[in-house]
Amino acid sequence: MRVLVTGAGGLLGRAVLPRLRADGFDVRATSRRPRHDPGADWAVVDLATGAGLTEAVAGVDAVLHLASLPNSRHTHRVDVLGTRRLVLAAGRAGVNHLVYVSIVGVDRVPYRYYRHKLAAEQVVAAGPVPWTVLRATQFPPFLDVLLRTASRFGPVVGDPAVLAQPVDQHEVAGRLAERLTAGPLRGVEEYGGSQVLRFDEAVRAWQAARGSRRPLLPVRFPGRLGRALREGGLTTTATPAGSRTWADYLADTYGRTGAS
Ligand SMILES: NC(=O)c1ccc[n+]([C@@H]2O[C@H](COP(=O)([O-])OP(=O)(O)OC[C@H]3O[C@@H](n4cnc5c(N)ncnc54)[C@H](OP(=O)(O)O)[C@@H]3O)[C@@H](O)[C@H]2O)c1
Repeated sequence: MRVLVTGAGGLLGRAVLPRLRADGFDVRATSRRPRHDPGADWAVVDLATGAGLTEAVAGVDAVLHLASLPNSRHTHRVDVLGTRRLVLAAGRAGVNHLVYVSIVGVDRVPYRYYRHKLAAEQVVAAGPVPWTVLRATQFPPFLDVLLRTASRFGPVVGDPAVLAQPVDQHEVAGRLAERLTAGPLRGVEEYGGSQVLRFDEAVRAWQAARGSRRPLLPVRFPGRLGRALREGGLTTTATPAGSRTWADYLADTYGRTGAS
């Protein structure tokens, strides 16, 4: 099966490419800039303009759509209008299956980026190509960067009661390969990690793994967004789920699990 992977150079894309290759898929990958990394046939595509799309979708059986531009003034243009351009181009090219990667909680957490992701899901579902949406929870390296950002002025600032359920992006890549093989679901599947953690638990483990003594500065997030995050809006009880934990990620990355 020939698969076009958009946003293939990103965090998830770097896990997806080797997985698809190992499973015997023939992979074409997109980026906005020319790339020559081995193992994929790279195409230059910009979803903000549609440049390169027609050529990229020609001759592919399935599209795995990972590209996204979070929290930018161009998010709507790339994520919603760009997804529409992709879906229409794929329809014209006779693509059999489009898998869109979204985020657990886009339908219940009132956050601007998530509104765009939900709108993109709707574009996919209304489009001419048989489809699957896979909503994943947060990837551990993303959470790691988030915590670094939240602690750049000293203490880690955050709402201790927010719930997260990190899922290893390599396990998400495995699930995406399975979904490609299974064919269009014409529905939404959620895929989360093996553990739901409170923010303060995640931070304590992160600090211990990094040998950091920075305190947690608790700040209760206000309003509907805060409530949704504390009520588990970013978590899912769906099965199957990943098996690797936040502690596994910390051990791999920092050499210590963070367990006390
Ligand atoms: N990170 C998480 O924790 C997480 C959790 C659940 C779901 N997701 C979803 O999973 C997907 C992949 O996430 P990720 O963390 O791998 O994101 P990422 O590292 O930011 O990668 C996204 C890629 O999108 C591409 N892109 C940006 N603007 C583009 C444009 N105008 N045209 C074409 N491509 C463009 C970029 O590729 P180039 O720079 O090479 O063009 C970038 O590498 C996203 O849809 C995200 O919403 C992420």
